[in-house]
Amino acid sequence: MKTTIKEAKNYLNQEVTIGGWLHNKRSSGKIAFLQLRDGTGFMQGVVVKAEVSEDTFQLAKNITQESSLFVTGEITEDTRSDLGYEMQVKSIEVIDEAHDYPITPKNHGTEFLMDHRHLWLRSKKQHAVMKIRNEIIRATYEFFNNNGFTKIDPPILTASAPEGTSELFHTKYFDEDAFLSQSGQLYMEAAAMAHGKVFSFGPTFRAEKSKTRRHLIEFWMIEPEMAFYNHADSLEVQEQYVTHLVQSVLKNCKIELKTLERDTEKLAKVATPFPRITYDDAVKFLKEEGFDDIEWGEDFGAPHETAIANHYDLPVFITNYPTKIKPFYMQPNPENEDTVLCADLIAPEGYGEIIGGSERINDLALMEQRINEHELDAESYSYYLDLRKYGSVPHSGFGLGLERAVAWISGVEHVRETSPFPRLLNRLYP
Ligand code: 4AD
Ligand code: MG
Repeated sequence: MKTTIKEAKNYLNQEVTIGGWLHNKRSSGKIAFLQLRDGTGFMQGVVVKAEVSEDTFQLAKNITQESSLFVTGEITEDTRSDLGYEMQVKSIEVIDEAHDYPITPKNHGTEFLMDHRHLWLRSKKQHAVMKIRNEIIRATYEFFNNNGFTKIDPPILTASAPEGTSELFHTKYFDEDAFLSQSGQLYMEAAAMAHGKVFSFGPTFRAEKSKTRRHLIEFWMIEPEMAFYNHADSLEVQEQYVTHLVQSVLKNCKIELKTLERDTEKLAKVATPFPRITYDDAVKFLKEEGFDDIEWGEDFGAPHETAIANHYDLPVFITNYPTKIKPFYMQPNPENEDTVLCADLIAPEGYGEIIGGSERINDLALMEQRINEHELDAESYSYYLDLRKYGSVPHSGFGLGLERAVAWISGVEHVRETSPFPRLLNRLYP
């Protein structure tokens, strides 16, 4: 019977064949332990000299790391392993022998590993992070499909800039100028006027010369947009969505979280409602905590966000930032017109902002004024203004950065390990 490591649990005490690779091994004169991987998981194969042919035992002792194999044997219970079972190997067929695999069990530097990202993806921790990323994507579709959202795909090549013009990747579009999308939001607003509640999931690009643990040049964003939702309604969706992501990973990625040695107690505490603090109060709080470097009207840096998040030990919304440090499209706060109806969701444990969201201006005259104030080319926003001309309604939306969410939930330090092939300031290879 041909099966996989993951499905082998259904074949206890039966003989199966699994196609995989040799991850690692150790052996003595009488027994060899093969760490096998097949993409679905990692499993130990036990080869006992007395129970196999001499050829098979010699083969088991000499197989090289990352050689591809078919292994056949009986699946037996093993309560000591995370998996719960192992294989008593009977025979081994080598498909392709690997020589001098560059990533050995010794410690390699990050740059070396990043140069070998195409191979590094095979290692146990990297495999676990990608499985968690996949679970977060699956749970995202589940959440929005279950809550009446329609998935709409905004374009990647665009003529306008939603988040300010300084971070755009420029490209030629035949004879025109074009930019790689830094956010699908403006198109999602159009989609919300056609479908009510919509979400997108796609790549976005920021030509930001940042080299921090939170910044990628290319990252994937989930952008929901909801007609007739005000800012408070949107915050409720955000906290429900993020809680659903955390619970799905806790439920469906137990082995991966263990592999990553993630402290799951911290994740288990995540529940709605999330704490909220206004920008004004956050500035006061930071000053009390001894941050002399922050003045009202300035954006928070990583140390400020971390101090606020540590205070709550839960994801926290910082609401109503000053108008002048936020993009042009945000609805003014009726209680203080120097601020806007927006929030950033700050993840615990120093992972920083994972969501940016706001209520959008729905008044045509005010939107035109903002486009002028921000010195944007009004012509390329003409379609966006149409949304305020033909049946404008209050609406809100947000964007969750996938890689930052994966980093936080997996507990990996740097976002570069949460993207299969990260695009970084000095890295376009592999
Ligand atoms: O806060 P941002 O820039 O918001 C927007 O783009 C809005 N248009 C979203 C919306 O309302 N539809 O980006 C949203 C999120 C951030 O909170 C962060 O998680 C992630 O995208 N992000 C990045 N992730 C990795 N690397 C970068 N350089 C990122 N920039 C933003
Ligand atoms: Mg932001």
